[in-house]
Amino acid sequence: MHFNIVTLFPEYFSGPLTCGLIGKARETGLLSFSFHNPRDAAEDKRRTVDGPPYGGGPGMVMLPGPLCKTLRGLGFVPRDDAGPGPLLLFKAGGTPFGQARAAALAGEATRSGHARTLTLICGRYEGIDARVEELFPAEAVSVGDFVLNGGETAALCLIEAVSRLLPGFMGDERSGEEESFAPGPGGGLPEYPQYTRPEVFEGLAVPKILLSGDHAGIALWRRQASLLAALHVRPELAAAAALSPDDRAWLQSVPRPAVGRNLYCALVHFPVLDREDNPGTASLTNLDIHDIARSSCSYGLGGFYALTPLEDQRALLRDILRYWTAGPGARTNPDRARALALVREGRDIACAAADLERSTGTAPLLIGTSARTGRCGLPEMSFAEIAGRLQTRPVLLLFGTGHGLAPHALEMCAAVAPPLRAFGAYNHLSVRAAAAVTFDRILHDWG
Ligand code: ADE
Repeated sequence: MHFNIVTLFPEYFSGPLTCGLIGKARETGLLSFSFHNPRDAAEDKRRTVDGPPYGGGPGMVMLPGPLCKTLRGLGFVPRDDAGPGPLLLFKAGGTPFGQARAAALAGEATRSGHARTLTLICGRYEGIDARVEELFPAEAVSVGDFVLNGGETAALCLIEAVSRLLPGFMGDERSGEEESFAPGPGGGLPEYPQYTRPEVFEGLAVPKILLSGDHAGIALWRRQASLLAALHVRPELAAAAALSPDDRAWLQSVPRPAVGRNLYCALVHFPVLDREDNPGTASLTNLDIHDIARSSCSYGLGGFYALTPLEDQRALLRDILRYWTAGPGARTNPDRARALALVREGRDIACAAADLERSTGTAPLLIGTSARTGRCGLPEMSFAEIAGRLQTRPVLLLFGTGHGLAPHALEMCAAVAPPLRAFGAYNHLSVRAAAAVTFDRILHDWG
């Protein structure tokens, strides 16, 4: 495989591309590299390659002229697919690069049978003039959600990830197959832990199964160790991985980090808005109580407050709860009884917050919810940040009945969760649906 590397700093690559397995692959001819510096294509005496951004702002932008001339010199044709092979451009805002893309690039090279060329453009400064991408459509690639000084480090990541998948690059072809994220036997999961000599190090013994010679047992232990690593560190990988029925059954049996127990919700019936945006009191409904209790139980919430200042409404709530947690409903439907056991009766938001502080020993963080953006003047807290707060403190999520929480209720909150939206502006969810979706966005138990 040949890499054309378009860079203002060819010297950057001299160390990493000469040592270890890459150095060896260069010697055997499996890999080759050539460097193309846009500075050599600059037209002025000072060999200028950058300019200030139109519209103002800090830093400099790479000029389109020298870069396009460099690409033409490599055989790329503007507004045309013609060229020596895939063209990739590194930038922080590109498509995340992962093992699957590395495998595809290596696979195409292997299948094509003849030496394949990848051309890598390493941006520098604040990026490159956007017209370069219009003229030479490139695959924009990011190696992570962080900002590097330029694409050179990112290019090294890609080169290494792709090269090690080429047949003949590694001594033992299997070492690539079993590693973290490799498709195939590992199924896109993080790698299992590895051990070597000595058997006991600083009082820590190698897991017995690895010394047993029981190959099936070792394979099972490794698979489960990978699944466990995914569950705790990268749960989204466990969700996306190719899981067998045995994997799924085993995952079900593993205790999860249950951050959800620090999450509480309150269904607020006062003060809420009516159709004309006037504050008032809404009536309690059986359906809201049942459905939010079921969602709370499914997501492992610590509790669900049903809040209304009206005594007759609280009496109605007590009747419903008695029927389903201790009466005939509990006998015919024990699952429902379990969900409704989470419901706590209360007059208002302050009562719920005080009750939570009493029972947990910590004042809860109050987070409002609203279908509308920017009405309440509160800071918005992302779902990920709410999830983070749960690690250390109880969070009470407030859901408004009627047409949503009134300003008085929102004023009690430290922040408001983002309005739930899918792909358009229509977001008129029932409060029951909104509660379920919000729990999922915060807790999403992928396993
Ligand atoms: N250039 C700057 N930051 C980058 C990143 N995270 N990935 C790829 N190229 C970059």
